[in-house]
Amino acid sequence: MFEGRVYREQFGSAPSVVAVSPGRVNLIGEHIDYLGGAVMPVAIDRHLTIEVAATEDGGFEILPLGAGFGTPVRFGRDDLAPRTDRSEKWLNYLLGVIAQYRAGGVEVPGFRAVIHSDLPAGAGLSASAAFETAVALVVEQLAGVPRDVVSRALLCQRAEHEYAGVPCGIMDQLAVGAGKAGHVLHLDCRDLSMCQCPIPDGLVVLVADSGVKHALGDGEYQKRREDCEAVLSLLGCDSFRSLTLETVRDFRDTLGDRLFRRARHAVTEMARVERFAGALEKEDLVRLGEAMQASHESLRDDYEVSCPELDHLVAAAERFGRERGLVGSRMTGGGFGGSTVSLVRTEAAGDLKSFLEEDYARRFGREVHCFITSAVDGATAIAVE
Ligand code: GLA
Repeated sequence: MFEGRVYREQFGSAPSVVAVSPGRVNLIGEHIDYLGGAVMPVAIDRHLTIEVAATEDGGFEILPLGAGFGTPVRFGRDDLAPRTDRSEKWLNYLLGVIAQYRAGGVEVPGFRAVIHSDLPAGAGLSASAAFETAVALVVEQLAGVPRDVVSRALLCQRAEHEYAGVPCGIMDQLAVGAGKAGHVLHLDCRDLSMCQCPIPDGLVVLVADSGVKHALGDGEYQKRREDCEAVLSLLGCDSFRSLTLETVRDFRDTLGDRLFRRARHAVTEMARVERFAGALEKEDLVRLGEAMQASHESLRDDYEVSCPELDHLVAAAERFGRERGLVGSRMTGGGFGGSTVSLVRTEAAGDLKSFLEEDYARRFGREVHCFITSAVDGATAIAVE
């Protein structure tokens, strides 16, 4: 993955630090990280790589490759205000992270950077968390201030809140930072405790990117959070973790239809994560699949964060069938577009991929981008001099 060639051609010297950050898919536990629920993501084999070396004058020169970018963006050491111009908004993830370290008293040196990525943006695969984490890692290496994975993730989350305007939970930054090859991260967002659950042999993850670009900064994500806060205040309760489905049902009239459905998603999804974790331990593939399917239905009908393309991909995977090797399928990530995730037997993954590609093209007249991945290790940085 590390080449250094473009960096040398562009800047006439070698990079001194390289950070590599994976994307993530969430297997289950959707839209509950910000409610203190537990979630089960995996880091995937699609990465963002950033190669850097410090500048002498403290300024920054950033060259993102691909997507039509060809010339470095240059800015001075203190020019860290969030960008509002559409063409420069991608830079906010980097600026936000640098600003957070500076605010914490870290002397962040200026740097030149080349960014490569095979992780699509806007596909619900946490390209933004991968970018933030990679920047955080290079800053820590250049400044000589290593942090632990949790405090780094929290810093990146703050950068996303303040610079990208997305009031995200902590799942993505921790999945990207703490993923482990061959394992699902079981992350309890109430206290940020984590454990790693082995993925049964013979299963892989198939990601299907619908191509519908999701943008969580456009307000719907925030509205879901506000709905959930309204539920808690109407019920006089301080956490969804202490709510049961019975209580939510008892207060149906008080909540009204929309808030009732939001609350039902939250409490049932929390229960599904527990069932999924138990089924994973027992390698009970039928229950894994049932939990994923029920999660998708709840996100579609109660939380209303799916879209026709995602619903179609999940239904198509179901049509492909469990007898042919599907374990389960659901939308993954924030929703409103983005990707689905399917757990599938290794030997059936290629067939499921072709099935989804053909079916999607027939139905929507455009391509779905599918890839097969296993769970990989989280982000790392190395000194290359
Ligand atoms: C986005 C957010 C996460 C999480 C998911 C939904 O990916 O960044 O914090 O809330 O949506 O589960």
